[in-house]
Amino acid sequence: MKKLLLLLSTALLLSACSIGNDWDNPMPEEGFLIIAHRGASAYEPENTLPSFELAEDLNADYVELDIHLTKDGELIVMHDDDVKRTTEATGKIKDFTLAELKELTANEEKGEKVTVSGRDEEEAYEIPTLREVVEQMKGDLRFVIELKDTEQYPGIEEELVRLMKEQQLIGSDAKGYPKAVILSFDKTALKQVHKIDPEIPLIQLISFDEGEEAALTKKELKDILSYASGINVSYEALTPPFVNTMHGEGLAVYAYTVNDAEAALRLKAMGVNGIATDEPDILDE
Ligand code: G3P
Ligand code: CA
Repeated sequence: MKKLLLLLSTALLLSACSIGNDWDNPMPEEGFLIIAHRGASAYEPENTLPSFELAEDLNADYVELDIHLTKDGELIVMHDDDVKRTTEATGKIKDFTLAELKELTANEEKGEKVTVSGRDEEEAYEIPTLREVVEQMKGDLRFVIELKDTEQYPGIEEELVRLMKEQQLIGSDAKGYPKAVILSFDKTALKQVHKIDPEIPLIQLISFDEGEEAALTKKELKDILSYASGINVSYEALTPPFVNTMHGEGLAVYAYTVNDAEAALRLKAMGVNGIATDEPDILDE
């Protein structure tokens, strides 16, 4: 009898372990988070300090930004791995030193200046380092940091975690929100971060094709649950059953990039935990 009880309790324990994460969902489960995508990028040049400052003024819960590593090992904030689209120069970020990048101007469109009131234009349009953004905005803003093109930047995960520790970005703020979250399409990079510091909340980005409904195989889900606490999905693919299933598994569900107010309201009603949007005031009256 004792043996039978032992077998039963072991089986129960194993089945419990196979469901959901080993840790709590780090993002608040209630509410609907507004994540300012590249800052308030509908109104200011993307991934610049003015864009992040405006996101704060518009009461975004988080700002999303993309990071890359310069030739001399500095983490800088830009979407593309090439400076061509958003500056007056051409070339890969990895081939520029930070000093060289600081000579450039981060305009929304090459050659086009956008007015930023009350600021020195040169300063406003500098390409910011991640440290500068965090130091400038810390205390006021929370960060969703996207790792991109990691194959070009060996060691970027270690450098990011080092900076997050230095800037005390690991852990929650007074409201119980994580001060910073890392997201990526690149699961290898996320797993590497998880290995370095399992306390850092991770979100797996997932893109579905146009017309496709969101779905994950059991194998994919199990894999994601081994390192991430949420997923961020191309929003058109989301359906109520998928969102419910993911919640049942202990994963938070976010949606990108939602610039349509009706879609935002639909996703909110679906129980999605938040949206990445270029317009942080998308749901303001
Ligand atoms: O928030 C998701 C989004 O950042 C992924 O797309 O290309 O804007 O980095 P992208
Ligand atoms: Ca991004």
